[in-house]
Amino acid sequence: MIITGATLLADAYGKYAVGHYSVNNLEQVLAVLKGNEAAQAPFFLAFSKSSFNYGSEVMAEAIARAAGALYPNLAFAVHLDHGDEPTCHAAIDSGVFTSVMIDASSLPFAQNVSTTRRVVRHAHALGISVEAEIGALMGVEDHISVDEQGARLTDPREAAEFAKASGCDSLAVAVGTVHGPNKFKAGQGINFERLQQIHEAVPGLPLVLHGSSSLPAAEIARINAAGGQVNPNTRGTMPEDMRKAVPCGVAKINIDADARLVWTRVHREYFRDHPENIDFRKPGKAYIEAFAALVQSRSAELGSASRLGQLLPVIQGR
Ligand code: G3H
Ligand code: ZN
Repeated sequence: MIITGATLLADAYGKYAVGHYSVNNLEQVLAVLKGNEAAQAPFFLAFSKSSFNYGSEVMAEAIARAAGALYPNLAFAVHLDHGDEPTCHAAIDSGVFTSVMIDASSLPFAQNVSTTRRVVRHAHALGISVEAEIGALMGVEDHISVDEQGARLTDPREAAEFAKASGCDSLAVAVGTVHGPNKFKAGQGINFERLQQIHEAVPGLPLVLHGSSSLPAAEIARINAAGGQVNPNTRGTMPEDMRKAVPCGVAKINIDADARLVWTRVHREYFRDHPENIDFRKPGKAYIEAFAALVQSRSAELGSASRLGQLLPVIQGR
């Protein structure tokens, strides 16, 4: 069942974090569905402008609709990640997206507010939820690229002013996490002091952590053993830190790079071990299973596993 982002975050707030999984193709969608079904976890199924450019927006919408029809006993939001304003308006009008992220965080404060406000007006008129962002996360994710100098932790006072003026339903904050496969060396990670200050500045507003892949060292070692050249010294967000962020208002955790690592590992190993193979469905199936297993274990770490049983009757009783 496809439900709004705000419904998911209202249930999670203060208790657990909902996993957001970025997807680009059918295999990834199937894996996210299977993993969350096994975990009995609510989740965000997240597309982006880059995923539309890889395939097609119409195709993505059809896949999302089919996912809702095939899995009526799951609860998830169909989400647009890091949307610019035109892409947000198109997603809102699509009839299938129930959550959009307007990312105007690279604009000056006043323009970030006014852009977000326009998206909020349009979205709320149709019962769709809006995530916005203030601050700037370092790293690379598709069309978003911020270097060390451009990175800026979220200012708690700005967050409060922004939330009030924009009317967003949830807020992505920059508190030290980094987009992409090159994050931190050991010892860095979430700045909990800043996160707590932001939480106190916007009590009750669900916060979102981007750049939260954990970059498992074992996956990277296997990729490199099979001929890859992924940075072996990078460290991701620690799973225990994700849980620790929940009492600080974090209700949504975004994961993309981990799925890419699993894809790379599965395909590199598969073709190394089966050089004669030309049937892409074999590594495709192996990827679905491996990504589903990652989703399942991430749900346990986020505390979202086994939450469907309580959530579904609440939604269905409406
Ligand atoms: O919007 C998606 C996430 O911020 C991706 O984070 O690069 O750590 O997977 P990640
Ligand atoms: Zn992100």
